[in-house]
Amino acid sequence: MTTTLDAFEPPDRLLLGPGPSAVHPRVLRAMSAPLVGHLDPAFVALMEEVKGLLRTVFATENELTIPVSGTGSAGMEACLLNLLEPGDAFVVGVNGVFGTRMAEVAERAGAVVHRVEAPWGRIVEPEQIAAALANAERPKLVAVVHAETSTGAWQPIPEITELAHRHGALMLIDCVTSLGGAPVEVDAWGVDAAYSGTQKCLSCPPGLAPVTFGPRALAAMKARTTKVRSWYLDVSLLAQYWGEERVYHHTAPITMNYALREALRLVVEEGLPARFARHRRNAEALAAGLAPLGLSLVAQQGHRLPMLNAVGVPEGIDEARVRGRLLAEYGIEIGAGLGPMKGRVWRIGLMGESSRREHVLTLLAALEDVLAGEGRSVTRGQAVAAAQAAS
Ligand SMILES: Cc1ncc(COP(=O)(O)O)c(C=O)c1O
Repeated sequence: MTTTLDAFEPPDRLLLGPGPSAVHPRVLRAMSAPLVGHLDPAFVALMEEVKGLLRTVFATENELTIPVSGTGSAGMEACLLNLLEPGDAFVVGVNGVFGTRMAEVAERAGAVVHRVEAPWGRIVEPEQIAAALANAERPKLVAVVHAETSTGAWQPIPEITELAHRHGALMLIDCVTSLGGAPVEVDAWGVDAAYSGTQKCLSCPPGLAPVTFGPRALAAMKARTTKVRSWYLDVSLLAQYWGEERVYHHTAPITMNYALREALRLVVEEGLPARFARHRRNAEALAAGLAPLGLSLVAQQGHRLPMLNAVGVPEGIDEARVRGRLLAEYGIEIGAGLGPMKGRVWRIGLMGESSRREHVLTLLAALEDVLAGEGRSVTRGQAVAAAQAAS
């Protein structure tokens, strides 16, 4: 028996969750271009352009700056598995889902993991990292999450990088959610390796993980005495495809690379400073609009991300029902809390193309309506007016 299915028609959604974010029509058009081979001279030329554009957004001169096939977690694994060998001491900031994930990956790589814990929503303090470094035996690598998507905490990097280097360790950052939405200064901060994802502030579909490795990281990888515990993510092999040799390793996801090139072109056309300012402005408008609704942000004051806003759910409000109604009645997606924040926060993403003033106003109008419907006392129009006044 054969079953025929209709073509899939996705519903219209306004993506204001923790990712994926909205994708510009130019990126979608780029994805519908015909395929070429992954060693075609035209594709090779595109690869070089993508590497150059990635260097611009990472603010680095690092030659080895490439998109790894796979989502942000593939970037995480590529960095950790290539920089760590069994027995290496790894100091990692754990203040949310993604620091926890790094610790888990590093354990699988056989590293000795020193977790530096901070309450969810707060940053990891440099003094905590300093104490862990002092306790670790010959620390090899320090890592923190620049933009902790599970909580909205914005981690400062340079001081921790300096500490890592003082102890002879490399510095790795997770900038999956920050890249293209807030400054990520790989060279100026002295970061040795960083990974990201395409589906957040780069506004490209999920599927590639930009990574960059600096000279110290390359030297550490060259000095390895054991094989990388992943063939697919072995950076020395990937570098032979992305470098001059063009040696086949695996078939590059052609269409995703078209998409990333176009998404990065859009980033560069807007300009990084203008893009960062837009993300800040829209986050401020959102915060201003949430206040009259009696809603507030839960991440540590002074360390709140502009692209991921964790909003406390008021007492007596059913978190999941509000999210469900926003989706069903308005086609708006926002995110739920994870781990200890489950049921206690909504995560509102204003990432890349999703970070638009009109989206903030639309969401606030919908929230006013849904919260009123859930029995909360709301003066309609106030939230929208406050956000308009603030932007
Ligand atoms: C900070 C951070 N790191 C890593 C990841 C993992 O990325 P992915 O889900 O694309 O594998 C995410 C995804 O949300 C993230 O927000």
